[in-house]
Amino acid sequence: MTDSASDLLARIRVHGAVPRHIAIIMDGNGRWARERHMPRPFGHRSGMKAVRETVEACLEAGVEWLSLFAFSQENWQRPETEVSALMALLEEYIAREAAELRAQGVCVHVHGDLSRLSPAAASAVERVRRETSGGQRLGLNLFISYGGRAELVRAARLLAADLESGALRAEDIDEQTIASRLYTAGCPDPDLLIRTSGEQRLSNFLLWQVAYAELYISSVLWPDFDRAALYEAICDFQRRDRRFGRVST
Ligand code: FPP
Repeated sequence: MTDSASDLLARIRVHGAVPRHIAIIMDGNGRWARERHMPRPFGHRSGMKAVRETVEACLEAGVEWLSLFAFSQENWQRPETEVSALMALLEEYIAREAAELRAQGVCVHVHGDLSRLSPAAASAVERVRRETSGGQRLGLNLFISYGGRAELVRAARLLAADLESGALRAEDIDEQTIASRLYTAGCPDPDLLIRTSGEQRLSNFLLWQVAYAELYISSVLWPDFDRAALYEAICDFQRRDRRFGRVST
């Protein structure tokens, strides 16, 4: 018998070292739908439920930041019907969940090339940002129309503009100068990066920020990812020996 979510949570609490920031590449919606002979958007809709459960599980475990890869730059190349379904789901998620997220103390941040969003999706993003801005318990980063390399290009342009204006000197550029020009400025780097569906790739997600993250590949398809699956990942993280290039203590 596998451990229940409450057993796993109790174990996590005894250990104590909860990752401050968990990043997740939510993968496997399409395969989950195909296994059920359903169209791909059916898998994405079920994936939305897994998002809700994961947010609640993070709140219960005391995780401070959760970053979700909801839509990559490359995803714009999917069939128009799937792109529209994903955008409609995003709007629906915000319409349905904004009040609850606010009540739970979640502060939602949305990152990526939002200039490509439809006016309806862009206004949903603005709404959830505004309505949850006071949340103190969990920072929820939603990455939409996002690519890690594009984020680095954006940061390089911001740096170049500061160099040109004289606000910054080349010799003053260090890791912190770059980190402060990423979407995640002010947010700690992920301690744990989870990818579902068994794939072992970063897929251009948070390339700078995951430098020292522990990687956890779950074979579970995203729509089946639940509290117990998240807590198993955290228990696994608690068994890791994080050395950051140094030797064990
Ligand atoms: C990857 O599965 C998943 C996505 C491209 C979209 C993720 C979106 C959601 C979980 C739903 C909405 C999210 C929010 C935050 C409201 P895939 O389609 O690549 O699956 P496959 O690899 O099995 O084809």
